[in-house]
Amino acid sequence: MPGGVMARGTGDPAPVVVPEVPQSPADTPIARAAQAAVGVRGTAERETWPRPQRCRIMTIANQKGGVGKTTTAVNLAASLSQHGSRVLVVDLDPQGNASTALDVEHHVGRVSVYNSLVEDRPLTEVVTAVPGMPGLSCAPATIDLAGAEIELVPMVARESRLTRAIEAFDVSALDYVLIDCPPSLGLLTVNALVAAEEVLIPIQCEYYALEGLEQLLRTVDLVRGHLNGRLRISTILLTMYDGRTRLASQVADDVRSHFGDVVLRTIIPRSVRVSEAPSYGQSVITYDPASSGAIAYVEAARELAMRSVLSVLVNGGPRLPPSRGPGLPGLPGLPAAVLAVASRGRSERGSAADVRRR
Ligand SMILES: Nc1ncnc2c1ncn2[C@@H]1O[C@H](COP(=O)(O)OP(=O)(O)OP(=O)(O)O)[C@@H](O)[C@H]1O
Ligand SMILES: [Mg+2]
Repeated sequence: MPGGVMARGTGDPAPVVVPEVPQSPADTPIARAAQAAVGVRGTAERETWPRPQRCRIMTIANQKGGVGKTTTAVNLAASLSQHGSRVLVVDLDPQGNASTALDVEHHVGRVSVYNSLVEDRPLTEVVTAVPGMPGLSCAPATIDLAGAEIELVPMVARESRLTRAIEAFDVSALDYVLIDCPPSLGLLTVNALVAAEEVLIPIQCEYYALEGLEQLLRTVDLVRGHLNGRLRISTILLTMYDGRTRLASQVADDVRSHFGDVVLRTIIPRSVRVSEAPSYGQSVITYDPASSGAIAYVEAARELAMRSVLSVLVNGGPRLPPSRGPGLPGLPGLPAAVLAVASRGRSERGSAADVRRR
């Protein structure tokens, strides 16, 4: 486990890493953990986090399915809005999971992101306030979006449709736009990468989690080279951490040693409450604020708000290192650190699974 203190929520027993990002002498990790563990704090008591000087447009992407993209988009957005930021979640996944979790209507026929991308409908007609969450809004996705991958193909500037829609929308009234991507590297994800300045990659602390990562990094490099020179991987978030498995902590350590400061210090633990919340049309932040998952997502959002992205923007973010490993079957040319995790995962797969069964 990296630095920081461990806190336990009342909702479930998984540990939470609370990072040390002090704001003032009175603002210590222990004080924050204690505050968070108390659970629901009234709006009046909630601290206001610094807002960025201009709107940060962040794409949450990983072509691997089920790694926590939507959960991260929804819960970071909820946390940031609860602490004084104005946040728009753009649901760019035909599954519409972010829209469901935010309780925003997304039945077929409703005007949605699809209409903006394919028919140039202004985003103002699409964006809806999230019920009960001041400062938080959502551009919902309907299943129509599944067709957009094909409908966009013959269009002029097909990769920049979302950029145009967002540019025509007044983002000066927003602090964050979080774009939730589908589990693919198709035209929808490319549109999201072209529209954003930052990429946030959630990585599940699991076997197979790093496979495919190289493809995502290459896609980001390609988009940066040809379509959006401002694009940087600014943030990596480790998700679904299960402290009982050695593999989880190895994946976390290796991702950290490979990607360095880009990885948020907060790790999101596996938490039943996190997975229950969407079925109530809520983020875990409102569903069970004292649960370990909620505490971790609030801390991750706090880190996001506090850390300066300037150094990342100047330094260019993480890149594939020049030295490559020999490549495992199905994993040609992965960076050595990534290969090391993947091969260790293979050799310990049995033991990790055994631990989980216990
Ligand atoms: N920290 C967590 N603890 C427990 N369950 C989680 C956690 N994070 C996500 N989940 C659950 O894992 C599943 C996948 O999460 P999520 O939908 O956020 O992933 P995704 O990357 O958006 O998936 P997709 O690629 O299908 O869009 C969901 O059922 C979600 O509720
Ligand atoms: Mg999703």
